[in-house]
Amino acid sequence: MAKQSQWKTSTGFILASAGSAIGLGAMWKFPYMAGVNGGGAFLLMFLIFTLLVGLPLLIMEFTVGKMGQTYTTKIYEKLTGKKWLNIIGWNGNLAVFILFGFYSVIGGWIIIYICTVIYHIVTLQSNQIGNLQFEALIGNPWLTIVGQGIFILLTTVIVMLGVEKGLEKASKFMMPLLFIFLILIVLKSLSLDGAMSGLRYILEPRVQDITVEGILLALGQSFFTLSLGTTGMITYASYASKEMTIKTSALSIVAMNILVSILAGLAIFPAISAFGYQPTEGPGLLFIVLPKVFEQMTFGAGFYLIFLILFLFAALTSSISLLELNVSNFTKNDNTKRKRVAVIGSILVFAISIPATLSFSSLSNIQFAAGTIFDNMDFLVSNILMPIGALGTTLVVGQLLDKEALRDYFGRDKFKLFSPWYYLIKFILPIVIVLIFVVQFI
Ligand code: TRP
Repeated sequence: MAKQSQWKTSTGFILASAGSAIGLGAMWKFPYMAGVNGGGAFLLMFLIFTLLVGLPLLIMEFTVGKMGQTYTTKIYEKLTGKKWLNIIGWNGNLAVFILFGFYSVIGGWIIIYICTVIYHIVTLQSNQIGNLQFEALIGNPWLTIVGQGIFILLTTVIVMLGVEKGLEKASKFMMPLLFIFLILIVLKSLSLDGAMSGLRYILEPRVQDITVEGILLALGQSFFTLSLGTTGMITYASYASKEMTIKTSALSIVAMNILVSILAGLAIFPAISAFGYQPTEGPGLLFIVLPKVFEQMTFGAGFYLIFLILFLFAALTSSISLLELNVSNFTKNDNTKRKRVAVIGSILVFAISIPATLSFSSLSNIQFAAGTIFDNMDFLVSNILMPIGALGTTLVVGQLLDKEALRDYFGRDKFKLFSPWYYLIKFILPIVIVLIFVVQFI
């Protein structure tokens, strides 16, 4: 994602930005959030927010990036002439920094699971993968710190070598393969005895399960999966060529994110009821349930290993862009400083990620506001910094940018979508974001 790298085609752009946007949010966070917040009710709210709030905001971020064509702690000044508005870019920078801190915890878990499954295979105990003990593995402070250290190191090396392009090329077949695997798991899950009540739990929106907290978290989830307010998508669009089509790209990314979220839900919830787990398991949900599903398959351990590698790949294509965002803002796209900034940034991320990881072991009894340290970092990013960033950008776009210029970038279409989109950004969404923001503190 270096400055000079422009994607020649719209497909190249979509692949790269989808690689960044689709990651742990859809596959790991969605099922666990839905499990804690009422299943089908959460899914419904998530869909409504993603389509009515997320999609227009994503189109907005793409438009800003395409108009501004520079890094995000400069772009607001470039577009409006007001230097202080760059603070919106710095807010996004802070958000991705903290986000990487707790993202790497889950990345570390994937690495620990990969090593454990390999160990099971080489010691000919592959029939035992269903007995992987999440609590024992993740409750081990040193193991998790090493795991997340490896995850951060992998990310740093990729960013330092500037080989993201290679990774993006690989995502052309890794992502479809991941889809196929998800479908495979869904089919297996649905075939289990007792699958139906879990399926009903995730698909049936029960009104009595809707809570104010659930509504807020569903909105936070839409922001998280679409990377909104972190300026990640603005950065991608700023690298894109003129040919990139804003609406089609945004729609594709929203559709893929929804699809992966639903597939993850369909893979996990039927298995939860079949194996007698609770949907409210929390962040470990995916790691607790999936080994059981794979255990039921022939060559299950082998398939689980491939799945985990694909999952790691999806997490890495997101984490490299998390780090890259900080690197491009601090180097101002000066490539000579790239390696040093990447290393310093990673060391700082590693430092803040340690308390996040220990939230699942030695620091688990530290609870305040949204829960553990990990929960609070997530809440700060998804429910505070991301909405603030998105709000700031809606105000800039709706109040300060020239409407006709926006129309040009938005492009014409037979449904005349520009006006409804523009009024949504100018009047409605800022109010919606402020209202939701205020409600959570009452
Ligand atoms: N959308 C990513 C996911 O679902 C997380 C994310 C948020 C992100 N903001 C970002 C990734 C900025 C890269 C850059 O996993």
